[in-house]
Amino acid sequence: MSERLKNKHALLTGAGGGIGLAVALAYLTEGARCTVVDRASELPPDLANSGFADRVQYLQADVTQMAQIEAMLNAAEQGFGPVQVLFNNAALFDMAPLLESHEAMFDSLFAVNVKGMFFVMQKTLARMVAQGVAGGAVINMASQAGRRGEALVSHYCATKAAVISYTQSAALAMAPHRIRVNAISPGVIDTPMWQHVDALFARYENLPLGEKKKRVGEAVPLGYMGTPADIAGAAVFLASDEASYITAQTLNVDGGAVMS
Ligand SMILES: NC(=O)c1ccc[n+]([C@@H]2O[C@H](COP(=O)([O-])OP(=O)(O)OC[C@H]3O[C@@H](n4cnc5c(N)ncnc54)[C@H](O)[C@@H]3O)[C@@H](O)[C@H]2O)c1
Repeated sequence: MSERLKNKHALLTGAGGGIGLAVALAYLTEGARCTVVDRASELPPDLANSGFADRVQYLQADVTQMAQIEAMLNAAEQGFGPVQVLFNNAALFDMAPLLESHEAMFDSLFAVNVKGMFFVMQKTLARMVAQGVAGGAVINMASQAGRRGEALVSHYCATKAAVISYTQSAALAMAPHRIRVNAISPGVIDTPMWQHVDALFARYENLPLGEKKKRVGEAVPLGYMGTPADIAGAAVFLASDEASYITAQTLNVDGGAVMS
């Protein structure tokens, strides 16, 4: 253990599985105390059995509910003190042809991916400023989908473009407080979300199940889908003091899919 996050308290949303869970385990391995948040009622077994039980607390919260955001932040501080790192990750995926997409899909995606993302960030930042947290860091989860529209994925793409924009605005607002705000833009990462994504593409592109997932992996310049662990390395770096002169950036972690 190199302890790059020793003495930091990290709050991670949507961390009951997938990328969030992998990042929580990486933060714990690097010495952080972690408040792990998801919609499910119980601590994921991977965390319960991780050997880090004394440095992890699990909270059930829905990030679309303002009262639950405040309760989550109160409980996080009560357990481990002021939050120094926010891994702002909870999100939903859905898709449909543009002319068939409906209000409920728009509302649910924007509620979690934009409203939830923004207010978790804003309320956390407000506390960091009030508490004079030095070296605070926020990492918002964007996506390569936020870099370019897609005919079948318009709302999800728009929510992730919003994550990139809010990251830039918040970074400028927080710069005088020496709090950094960055985003990670993953490409295709093999998580539970992709079972859902693959099934939707199968329906709308008339493909056998598993075919879209195979094709997107082959289309990545490095030749394969990423794993949650591939995101964890970038998430540790951006949370650590090694990234102390990096803010307002969206870091592509995508096997070469997007160039910047
Ligand atoms: N997997 C990919 O290929 C990929 C690519 C680009 C970006 N991303 C982004 O990375 C992040 C993690 O994705 P993942 O693949 O691990 O997804 P996932 O679906 O496996 O995990 C997302 C988590 O968010 C939680 N969540 C959803 N709504 C919530 C709410 N209202 N309140 C609290 N928690 C909620 C879910 O329960 C789930 O555990 C997301 O922001 C996603 O958009 C993923």
